[in-house]
Amino acid sequence: MVPVKVGEKFDYEAVNIDSDWNDSNDSELIMHTIHSYPAKFPAFIAWKAFEYAQNEGVKIKNVSDIFCGCGTVALEAKIHGYDFWGCDINPVATLIARTKSNTYNVDEILYYYERIKIKIENLDFPDDLYLRANARLQYWYYEKSYCVLYKLHYAIVCEIPEGKYREAFECIFSSILKACSKWLTKSIKPQVDPNKKEIDVLGQFDMHLHKFIKAVEEIKVANANTIIKCTNFLNEENLPKVDLIITSPPYVTSYEYADLHQLSSLWLGYADDYRTLRRGSIGSVYNSDAFFMDMKNLNNTGKNICEQLINIGMPMSKVKSVARYYVDMQNAVEKCYGMLRDGGMVFFVVGDTEYKNVKIQNSRHLVEVLEKNKFHDIKIGKRTISKRICIPYRDETGKFSKDKSKRKVYHEEFIISGRL
Ligand SMILES: C[S@@+](CC[C@H](N)C(=O)[O-])C[C@H]1O[C@@H](n2cnc3c(N)ncnc32)[C@H](O)[C@@H]1O
Repeated sequence: MVPVKVGEKFDYEAVNIDSDWNDSNDSELIMHTIHSYPAKFPAFIAWKAFEYAQNEGVKIKNVSDIFCGCGTVALEAKIHGYDFWGCDINPVATLIARTKSNTYNVDEILYYYERIKIKIENLDFPDDLYLRANARLQYWYYEKSYCVLYKLHYAIVCEIPEGKYREAFECIFSSILKACSKWLTKSIKPQVDPNKKEIDVLGQFDMHLHKFIKAVEEIKVANANTIIKCTNFLNEENLPKVDLIITSPPYVTSYEYADLHQLSSLWLGYADDYRTLRRGSIGSVYNSDAFFMDMKNLNNTGKNICEQLINIGMPMSKVKSVARYYVDMQNAVEKCYGMLRDGGMVFFVVGDTEYKNVKIQNSRHLVEVLEKNKFHDIKIGKRTISKRICIPYRDETGKFSKDKSKRKVYHEEFIISGRL
């Protein structure tokens, strides 16, 4: 990590890859892999941040991740014995995060699983079950898979009382929904694969449940208090005081998380229309109604980037979303300042991207926001992103590609720290 200050002269591209943050020889807990999550960062980022902060003299008791996603920092905080407060606006994210950081009794999991299997065998649903399904779910599923999933979910809800065990089973259920659908495997964008074969739904569930049991058995219980809320951080008023914030915001102009989680949101009843879950999410094009005010509130870097994007003809709906993204980030950093105890530290993991040769420098924008909020000792390090994302282009369908004529996506990202 090297010191960084606002100013045109600092060349972010010239920052060297920091071997400390780039990789780890230690393998991740199985619990981190029970449910896939877009833009999840590797667990070692969290434990390296703990180590780094401690070496800098931060006394860690409480940790936070304000965009907690699937709870990578939450779980690592728990096993290191730190209390944790985190939030995410997406209910699928917080379901996974809570499941990962709860503790369970394996016998109880197996007991519920037996009851679910018996229930499914005895369920008899009307023949028109599929015809009455939500139109979006009909679009994504073959009839047979849909009916088995329906029975499975029905049995989970009937047999397990509300609470952490039901949530864990719903989380495992959610983890198989894409594989059991027509969703094009490994595609970032929601896209049907017309050639995808139906798979054995109950076999998938069984496999994932046993992986979850292994994950539970692997974790040595730590005594720490974990709170995970499903809320818009920017509107949250009851914020705790913490010593350390480790977080990674969504990338500007990246995907809509609500769209990527649409299967889980529909099945688990978080929304009848998953598009309603886009609102409030940082960087969503659906938030951009106050463009002129946003432009007025932007810092120099933010304004500069938006003006360049307008000049090269980026569609206005997108420019508005970039402007809103930067204003949201400015507000988020200000709130982080309010959460930190004296001497506390923040870590932001962000990547830069590019649109038709205009550099969208989230790193530079963030450093300027940290400085404005009186953070000191601001440092920056660079790391390469996981192997798949190292293929730094995306084709028209959203699939990663090596073709240089396609749209470039970030394949490196920055870790930016600041001190109160
Ligand atoms: C890059 S991901 C975080 C991934 C996380 N570090 C992990 O390992 O899973 C960014 C997250 O920010 C969440 N988010 C976006 N806008 C938000 C908001 N206004 N309040 C809270 N969370 C938000 C998204 O739902 C997404 O899960």
